[in-house]
Amino acid sequence: MNQLERTLAIIKPDSFAGGHAGEILAMIEAAGFRILGMRMTRLSKAQAQGFYDVHREKPFFAGLVEFMTEGPVVVMALERENAIRAWRDLMGATNPANAADGTIRKKFGTAIDRNAVHGSDAPDTAAYELGFFFSGSDLA
Ligand code: CMP
Repeated sequence: MNQLERTLAIIKPDSFAGGHAGEILAMIEAAGFRILGMRMTRLSKAQAQGFYDVHREKPFFAGLVEFMTEGPVVVMALERENAIRAWRDLMGATNPANAADGTIRKKFGTAIDRNAVHGSDAPDTAAYELGFFFSGSDLA
């Protein structure tokens, strides 16, 4: 099924601080995504905890929140056919060690907990995550 879909993408603190935001944006555009909304921000601890609420009970939760608040991030609402799957394919595997050549995490990720970018993993999480950062009227 080719369905126009939206997903939430984040350029995480490691890749932003490393100066890779421009190249990641170029990869996003080259892959045919339309950027509906984009904002640079620095997450508070409460925001990072809220965003990753589904992981609250995981052993890596505290470290994840620490990492996501260490510096600026870029949050984006992306649209494309099959955007959720397509963005996850472009990101590569969660652990950069397992990410395929040509993916963002292979290029810029350095560890499973410093993996350069985030993407929604399903339609329900995409709806939650898009709403977390953007209101409907923000999206062009
Ligand atoms: P992300 O796609 O942003 O969603 C949750 C994040 O938790 C994930 O990327 C990883 O960067 C991070 N994380 C840290 N440690 C682990 C782990 N052991 N297993 C899975 N995800 C982890």
